[in-house]
Amino acid sequence: MSALADRGEPQRNGPLIQISHLVKNYQLGEVEVHALRGISLDVQHGEFVAIMGASGSGKSTFMNILGCLDIPTKGTYILEDIDVSKLTRDELAHIRNSKIGFVFQGFNLLSRTSALENVELPLLYCAMTNTERYNRAVSALDKVGLADRVHHFPNQLSGGQQQRVAIARALVNNPSIVLADEPTGNLDSRTSVEVMGIFQELNRQGITIIIVTHEPDIAQFTRRHIVFRDGKVRSDKLNPVPRVASEVLKEMPVIDEEAEE
Ligand SMILES: Nc1ncnc2c1ncn2[C@@H]1O[C@H](COP(=O)(O)OP(=O)(O)OP(=O)(O)O)[C@@H](O)[C@H]1O
Ligand SMILES: [Mg+2]
Repeated sequence: MSALADRGEPQRNGPLIQISHLVKNYQLGEVEVHALRGISLDVQHGEFVAIMGASGSGKSTFMNILGCLDIPTKGTYILEDIDVSKLTRDELAHIRNSKIGFVFQGFNLLSRTSALENVELPLLYCAMTNTERYNRAVSALDKVGLADRVHHFPNQLSGGQQQRVAIARALVNNPSIVLADEPTGNLDSRTSVEVMGIFQELNRQGITIIIVTHEPDIAQFTRRHIVFRDGKVRSDKLNPVPRVASEVLKEMPVIDEEAEE
């Protein structure tokens, strides 16, 4: 393995993700649900992608496979030259921990644990000193603008701040890719744009980001729009002029977050 790969950084000699003829069936008693019916697509390093489509079209199923939380029934998934569809559970867990950061709609933070400890969690099984773990977590919280909230508990943070903690947690392993399934689904419109601003900044720094969203306004902040229908790709288009979150925020009313504490 190269020194680059040792540091957990992407080897940029091909697409980050190569998906071909991906099929996922769920067996529900007698009934077989065809959640994905043959998806083929590539994602390059540094892309910012929105996946859209009606409820039940297979978006979360696809994200779970991308995130190595689930395996396809058929087809191949190659992530940075590794054929993920052939790995064991342990190997999948290793890929998940080293290459992938997740952000969920409901934040999924541990409630009795500070922002800092929530962000340190993915590092608990890594060989590093407590000081290094602390420094990495503080730096991830700093990246999302929460350096002054490290000792707050989730219930002492606004929804947007909780989602930023979740983004910091997703970043702390230096993943090649951040996957976010409806990351703004529980947020008001201004906070949603703020979160998209953080994703845009991370993407500018080179992190590949794939989000699922129902909202066309949110997708407008991304560069590529993939629409699913009935477990297939219905359309896959570049967005030539993504909206810039920092510009849009200037036009939006400010909510006083301090007042919410
Ligand atoms: N664990 C499961 N067992 C059986 N069927 C499932 C399972 N998970 C998803 N499905 C089915 O697979 C299809 C795709 O579901 P999926 O959750 O991927 O849709 P989605 O596009 O994310 O929808 P939404 O926008 O509502 O989140 C649906 O018909 C769903 O009912
Ligand atoms: Mg879903």
